[in-house]
Amino acid sequence: MRHLIDPLDFTVEEIEALLDVADEIAADRQAFRQVCQGKTLATLFYEASTRTRLSFEAAMLNLGGNVLGFATADSSSAAKGESVADTIRTVSCYADICAMRHPKEGAPLRASRYSRIPVINAGDGGHQHPTQTLTDLMTIRQRRKQLGHITIGLCGDLKFGRTVHSLIKSLARYEGVKFILISPEELRVPDYVIEEVLWDKGVPFVEAEDMELVMDQLDILYMTRVQKERFFNEEDYVRLKDTYILTPDKLAAAKPGMAILHPLPRVNEISIDVDDDPRAAYFEQAQNGVYVRMALIMMLLELASPVAAGARTGALQKEVR
Ligand code: NCD
Repeated sequence: MRHLIDPLDFTVEEIEALLDVADEIAADRQAFRQVCQGKTLATLFYEASTRTRLSFEAAMLNLGGNVLGFATADSSSAAKGESVADTIRTVSCYADICAMRHPKEGAPLRASRYSRIPVINAGDGGHQHPTQTLTDLMTIRQRRKQLGHITIGLCGDLKFGRTVHSLIKSLARYEGVKFILISPEELRVPDYVIEEVLWDKGVPFVEAEDMELVMDQLDILYMTRVQKERFFNEEDYVRLKDTYILTPDKLAAAKPGMAILHPLPRVNEISIDVDDDPRAAYFEQAQNGVYVRMALIMMLLELASPVAAGARTGALQKEVR
């Protein structure tokens, strides 16, 4: 049995295969509508979510399966003091696969050790968010036709932003990727990511504070929200929250083929005037979230794609086992 806890739980080849299935789904969703008949997904969300939870549920429903779960910790027995270990043992009796979001780093990993069903990390504190990364990778691949050979600027809260940590970890495995890490001093990428993922592997990166100074170098601009809920005091949040606001005039220097990504929700960091710019890819990204989660559920449940009579999907199945 496989889980998805960390973005490196899947090889580059497995990710390519998963994204190929996601592309097939995007091209013909109808063909997949019975793949998960009789299967149930549990969404265990101890922390707020719109896209991740709903796209997981939409994914399972699109595959013909069922969903159950909770959307807040206080509507589960966590409010009575139940441990994650006991919760997952119980949920293993009711569902075939589960997606868990938790404010504590490592909670989904812990759950996976007690689980009888595949556990998907849907975001653990300020740590990792591997399924957002699958969404990001699908969008980058659609826009750039490949995952290597890009200069990507990650901008905003690089300290607490778990989507940033997972995306760096994942993209660092591809040839020719250069990172420009744009943040205020206080919100820099944590040392463990810099040391273990970038330094150790000799991946090129620079840190910058001014988004406009580096704009013309970027193939991808990945904007992020300042993570209010992870700050220890309101004052620091208020001081830092509007450090970066992307507006059409700041895009004047950007390459015409650059893609702007954002995991969403946005607060102020991308002006709504940017939404109609052809470089804006963040709503495409939200749409892709359903396709990659459909492909992921199939992969973890070892269900073959009904498309292409298993030729390429056969390869995916082998890699999974
Ligand atoms: C992100 C998250 O939860 O980390 N949202 C998402 O899943 N799309 C980003 C964020 O909350 O800022």
